[in-house]
Amino acid sequence: MVKNIVLIGFMGSGKTSVGKALSMKLNLPYVDSDGVIEAEEKRPISQIFEEDGESYFRDKEIEVIESLSERRGWIISTGGGVVLNPENIFNLKRNGLIFYLKTTPSVIYNRIKDDSTRPLVNVSNPLERIENLLRRRTWLYEESADYVVDTSSLTIDEVRDKIIKIGGKK
Ligand code: S3P
Repeated sequence: MVKNIVLIGFMGSGKTSVGKALSMKLNLPYVDSDGVIEAEEKRPISQIFEEDGESYFRDKEIEVIESLSERRGWIISTGGGVVLNPENIFNLKRNGLIFYLKTTPSVIYNRIKDDSTRPLVNVSNPLERIENLLRRRTWLYEESADYVVDTSSLTIDEVRDKIIKIGGKK
């Protein structure tokens, strides 16, 4: 069975960049669950949150993850809150190996501070928000992952190669 490589982690942890790099190197197709949600909803995530709220988005996310989990041999990157619903992890694990891209709050802050497309950190004190969310979520990322990759001091290509090395042994 060809497993999917599934990337989880906080916003700004590099899931999209690493996912695309893996896709290029392994010649496997890449999909981003947030991208599928936006395409199906025909509006950006910030607008979904604004118009219909977070719980509408989470329900849609469950649906999309369930359908993406049916695939085999894909690189799948997920939204940072995918771990909030255990159903998502159950589905992703069926055909996939899950890698948690672990990063520190300050690295995340520097990567996303000028980005207004992420509603959860579009607040007056984003660093504090990031720290709070990470405090609440870290155990979920760690519990959900088959492997934890600390990306704080690694380049995108280094993270990619680490994942390939681990995946190759499976
Ligand atoms: C979210 C992360 C976002 C997106 C949504 C909610 C979160 O994805 O799914 O804004 O709860 O952490 P990225 O991790 O790709 O930014």
